[in-house]
Amino acid sequence: QLVNGYTLMKYAQQHQLVLPAFNTTDYEMTLAIVQAFNKKQLGGYIQISSHNLKFSNPQIIADMTRSVMEREEVQVPISLHLDHGKSFADVQACIDAGFTSIMVDASQLPYEENIKEVRHACEYAHFFGIPVEAELGGIKGKEDDIVSDVNAKTHPEDVVHFVEATHCDLLAVAVGNVHGLNLAPNLDFDLLHQIAQVSPVPLVLHGGSGIPFDQVRQAKKAQLLKVNYGSDLRQAYIQAFGQAYDANHKEFNLVDVAQAGVDRVVQTAEKIIHEVNEV
Ligand code: G3H
Ligand code: ZN
Repeated sequence: QLVNGYTLMKYAQQHQLVLPAFNTTDYEMTLAIVQAFNKKQLGGYIQISSHNLKFSNPQIIADMTRSVMEREEVQVPISLHLDHGKSFADVQACIDAGFTSIMVDASQLPYEENIKEVRHACEYAHFFGIPVEAELGGIKGKEDDIVSDVNAKTHPEDVVHFVEATHCDLLAVAVGNVHGLNLAPNLDFDLLHQIAQVSPVPLVLHGGSGIPFDQVRQAKKAQLLKVNYGSDLRQAYIQAFGQAYDANHKEFNLVDVAQAGVDRVVQTAEKIIHEVNEV
């Protein structure tokens, strides 16, 4: 049973947790993420980006996630989240399919248009009781196939107006965090604390891969509720898969090779869950 995003947010606040949000693309990644949460007995997010939904679709991902959770007898709260939702159509399709949390990423648009897009999505999502994450500022780096050169840090003076004008429930910030593994993150804690002081809603950190864990734990004091991890998990899968093939170029047992990838992702996700909250 997928948990509603508001319930998961309350769970994080009640237990004073920063929840990891792991990006999936397919069955193997979903299985590994669910197993890691279950093993560590801690809740969190499974998320998929608009871009990666082109490889499947919202219904396939929602049905599969529910079914994996049922089979794995999950006892911890997990929400299914649309990550970097790029269109209103994606927001609608994901909510209709049973996603329980949504991000609208219109941060590439001018400020007023970002507000308009997020507000529109919030009206729809809130009608169904689903929370919405929005992004203010531009995060540099490579998010799936989308490469962004924009490195516009979030302006603290915009935060209250943006949240009040959009009605968003979570705010993703740009404070020196980057997407992918090609650039070094350099978190600006002064800025993060300035934002946290004024923000009416909890904060989200994108680009978790590559951020030292002690910095993530430090960011916890700045209203941080959710931290996203994509590249670390994908790299773990690809490396294990590749190593299994390297070990035997005649290999044609796909299940064994995929299992090696899944096992490596479980280990990686378990370590992240452990390090982020020291559990
Ligand atoms: O939205 C997804 C994340 O921000 C992933 O970032 O690939 O750098 O961990 P990452
Ligand atoms: Zn992101």
